[in-house]
Amino acid sequence: MPIQWFPGHMNAARRQAADALARVDVVIEVVDARLPAASSNPMIAELCRARNRPCLKLLNKVDLADPAATSEWIAFFGRQPGVSARALSCRETGEARRVPDLCQALAPHRNDGTKPLRMMIMGIPNVGKSTLMNALLKRKVAKVGDEPAVTKQQQTLELGGHRRLTDTPGLMWPKIEHDLDGFMLAASHAIGRNAVIDEEVAAVLGDILLARYGEAVLERYRLDHVADGVALVEAIGERRGCRLKGGILDLEKAARILLTDYRSGALGRISLETPASREAMLTAAQAAGGEPDAEADFSASAS
Ligand code: G4P
Repeated sequence: MPIQWFPGHMNAARRQAADALARVDVVIEVVDARLPAASSNPMIAELCRARNRPCLKLLNKVDLADPAATSEWIAFFGRQPGVSARALSCRETGEARRVPDLCQALAPHRNDGTKPLRMMIMGIPNVGKSTLMNALLKRKVAKVGDEPAVTKQQQTLELGGHRRLTDTPGLMWPKIEHDLDGFMLAASHAIGRNAVIDEEVAAVLGDILLARYGEAVLERYRLDHVADGVALVEAIGERRGCRLKGGILDLEKAARILLTDYRSGALGRISLETPASREAMLTAAQAAGGEPDAEADFSASAS
């Protein structure tokens, strides 16, 4: 089942973002460190290039991501013109509060009362934008990702020291060009539960986990061997006694166990993609003239 995106939302978000960008000096794009390319919105990079604005790419939730993959991604994004990349955990307030200094380095001329440093946070839902705002403002603000761009009233907040933060220009739905991206985003909760079927998402997540972190996964569920993601979900159901009336395996419950364990970090620090696995996926998609399928080589690594 392909996971779709909605061009209507994207067009509204694009207009709003383009207007907002005229009034900012540095864009802070928050992505999920476990899937930094799939959770990037290409529109943000495109708008930054068009407006000639530097972009600070924050690979957030680094506490959940595989450190080796994160280093590869930092080097990868660092090679992109106009982009500076950092990994952090916005839940660590101290780390989050260093973000304005990183922005200042990208726009050193914006540093006084007449030319304050104007920053704007952007990113797809659930990557940690509100968490970052809360840390910077030292108080709780409303969850920023919930409103569509068309209804959103943007706020500009003073951080002190000639620094201003504009909140996100509205809901930025990820542009899902590849089915695999949709599954990775759903597994990581960037796409709401209602939009997708947990069982299917867990099976694709299982394929990726077995290819890249097979040993840890088998150890966690005390399994010897499983052929693929579907078999993994079934085996988890068996092992955890997930049964419906009549003794039938409750695959939905088994799927949720795997998803919850991945999301909470119970399986260890995991990244669903590396620059090399992404390149392999894109090459496979191009060769197939369409979508990469479950045979994609998830295990590819840059080293
Ligand atoms: P958003 O504004 O971009 O939509 O994201 P938000 O800040 O609301 O964060 C989404 C979820 O991610 C929240 O968890 C939040 O606590 C968590 N989160 C943010 N930064 C970090 C981080 O650095 N590390 C970890 N581990 N988690 C982080 P939640 O409300 O429990 O949602 P969910 O994870 O159950 O979807």
